[in-house]
Amino acid sequence: MKTTLSIIKADVGGFPGHSSVHPALLKKAGEELEAAKKNGKIKDYFVARCGDDIDLIMTHDKGPDNEEVHKLAWDTFLACTEEAKKLKLYGAGQDLLSDTFSGNIKGMGPGSAEIEFEERASEPIICFLMDKTEPGAFNLPIFRMFGDPFSTAGLVIDESMHAGFEFEVYDVMANKTVTLNTPEETYDLLALIGGKSRYVIKKIHARSGKVPKEEAVACVSTDKLSKIAGKYVGKDDPVAVVRCQSGLPAVGEALEPWAFPHLVSGWMRGSHNGPIMPCSMEDAVPSRFDGPPRVVALGFQVANGMLGQPLDFFKDVAFDKTREKSSEIAEYMRRHGPFEPHRLPSEDMEYTTLPAVLKKLEGRFTDL
Ligand code: F6R
Ligand code: MG
Ligand code: MG
Repeated sequence: MKTTLSIIKADVGGFPGHSSVHPALLKKAGEELEAAKKNGKIKDYFVARCGDDIDLIMTHDKGPDNEEVHKLAWDTFLACTEEAKKLKLYGAGQDLLSDTFSGNIKGMGPGSAEIEFEERASEPIICFLMDKTEPGAFNLPIFRMFGDPFSTAGLVIDESMHAGFEFEVYDVMANKTVTLNTPEETYDLLALIGGKSRYVIKKIHARSGKVPKEEAVACVSTDKLSKIAGKYVGKDDPVAVVRCQSGLPAVGEALEPWAFPHLVSGWMRGSHNGPIMPCSMEDAVPSRFDGPPRVVALGFQVANGMLGQPLDFFKDVAFDKTREKSSEIAEYMRRHGPFEPHRLPSEDMEYTTLPAVLKKLEGRFTDL
């Protein structure tokens, strides 16, 4: 029987402001998923958080986009919203953009990344959870994992990885998708995914045949809140799931790209470039200027549909230097104040609160 791993996430109220998730909400989410596990709706779960986002990590045998599983996540977020309202948490229910559930969480506010697979003899998986950034923030690290031999040694040393990988890329502006193969189309791929606010990696498939080609070996949530709401309602803090080892990047190769705190869009008011900071779930509490943006990595050994307990990878002191570097870059970027390239370029500010400010000045302009 195939196993499905679903991460479904939403911000349904921050504590305080947009920093973290109140323990009462995590408790509520745990109770809802425990009940669902008991009545067989899901096999296992782990309630995680990164910044102000609740990340429901669930295993089941129902496949991606399953109505029952999506409704469970939706109802769980509704129950958490009730708690958030009672506590007057900030932005209670902010990511639930619809009044009624319509069969699939897609297009309703919450984000999702789901993969279905036949469990291998051993199935190491990493769930990456981000806050204060957007799906394109995964482009660079996912490319490094599956396409960069200077990061993933297996691309050179492991014969079974030489066939390369298939990258499914979404154009989130035009609502189109394209598939490119590495290594031969590496330059074309980079031409697209370097433009990370528009082109985002959605899924990766292995070309070697060691893992069945139809099974995604990585998946990123690509849901665009502003596209759904038609206005700024916060960034689309993304999540991703990556399978590891035996013809896929080793666990350490999936973690290696995060030693570089690359610049991502988001941070304060979803309007600034800043360095991503890998950290433990406990430390994933964006504070300085509502940031800097965070990423958490939880490792699981999935067994017979069960998740078991996670290992919180970025707790490792080996990432201390990256965090220091990230703080240094944060300091450097902050000194630019309201100037680009700290502030996002104008075209990326379209879905923020800035256009309302500019509108006010429209009548003041005269011809040169
Ligand atoms: C970024 C984010 C925060 C808020 C900021 C202002 O994704 O959520 O940085 O944009 O705290 O929030 P409001 O406008 O709600 O006061
Ligand atoms: Mg928030
Ligand atoms: Mg968030």
